Amino acid sequence: KKIVLAYSGGLDTSVILKWLIERYQCPVIAFSADLGQGEDWEEVKKKALSIGAEKVIIQDLKQEFVKEYCFFAIKAGARYEDWYLMGTSLARPLIAKAQVEVALREGADAVSHGATGKGNDQVRFELTYSSLAPHLKIIAPWREWEFKGRSDLIAYAKEKGIPVPVTPEKPYSIDANLFHISYEGGILEDIWQEPPEDMFILTNSPEKAPDKPEYIEIDFDRGEPVAINGEALSPVELLQKLNYLGGLHGVGRVDMVENRYVGIKSRGIYETPGGTILHIAHRALEQITLDREVMRLKDTLMPKIAELIYYGYWFSPEFQALKHLIEETQERVTGTVRLKLYKGNVIVCGRKSPFSLYKKELASFEEEGGYSHKDAEGFIRLNALRLKNLATF
Ligand code: ARG
Ligand code: SIN
Repeated sequence: KKIVLAYSGGLDTSVILKWLIERYQCPVIAFSADLGQGEDWEEVKKKALSIGAEKVIIQDLKQEFVKEYCFFAIKAGARYEDWYLMGTSLARPLIAKAQVEVALREGADAVSHGATGKGNDQVRFELTYSSLAPHLKIIAPWREWEFKGRSDLIAYAKEKGIPVPVTPEKPYSIDANLFHISYEGGILEDIWQEPPEDMFILTNSPEKAPDKPEYIEIDFDRGEPVAINGEALSPVELLQKLNYLGGLHGVGRVDMVENRYVGIKSRGIYETPGGTILHIAHRALEQITLDREVMRLKDTLMPKIAELIYYGYWFSPEFQALKHLIEETQERVTGTVRLKLYKGNVIVCGRKSPFSLYKKELASFEEEGGYSHKDAEGFIRLNALRLKNLATF
């Protein structure tokens, strides 16, 4: 009787909007989440209404996205397959959650999205719908309709009078938000080819970055970044500022081939300037504030946490349990890190914390500092016991 569609304003979801109205003969609400992708929301609204949306709802989720999703990933040190900082993976559960809330509020009985049948995003949307409102019907047009590819979509759009962008289409697909921009598909599918330099939006190439390094200081409060160079900033302002600084200095580009949940290897190119700076700065602070065994435990859990985020299990009981554990480890991660940004590099230069576990007297080779060298002798002897026992000659 009523569908809420996750609508981006692009060609695909515009075609989907029209197709849903025709196919299901019911009102469709277009829902857009503002995650800082820099859309002209007035235009998006006009476009959806002109296609026939009953209503357009645009929600500003920027603050929640950065604070609860991106900053959690920083606290967890979460990276998928080492390199991917998960800008898209983190956004999907939040968009889907907000979409479900709209569906419940507006009395809709179905939700729909524009993710293809080959990707991760369909899984992330639908696992979130299922966790939060299992009674809603899920419509995934890319898995249902007769269109084979983008040329069919464009033909349908022209036939139905849906505005098709006049600017020549970019030869790859983009997903953007405050945390990152991702590029995949099209010309990028040749994994031997370097991406064209004019593709990048957020970052200078290291070659074009300034020849002079720039020093910055980031303050953290319980694992969360709160200030740059002593100036307190909201999560969104802070990330925007780091995106600008990192982008200027060529920080945060990644070109990788990753394993999608559905079993496909796919090449992704990412720009995550602010996120890259934050991961490095946060780790530098953990190095002085975390107990060794807490750090070990956290590090063994990290790949699991990243996998749950990447696969789309944000609203699963196992992820929520791990989330609490990570938050608990961050109690002491308060302090300041000094960094140097230079031609694609983030170089840690200094760190300090009121909760620092680093004791100069203890580490120093110059002083005893309450440490008994004699104890080390027995420590090594006992640890060597089984090795000696195994030794064959
Ligand atoms: N491969 C990345 C991920 O799975 C990026 C996906 C980009 N999605 C998109 N609809 N363009 O998180
Ligand atoms: C898509 O399939 O819609 C984008 C790529 C992905 O979700 O992995």
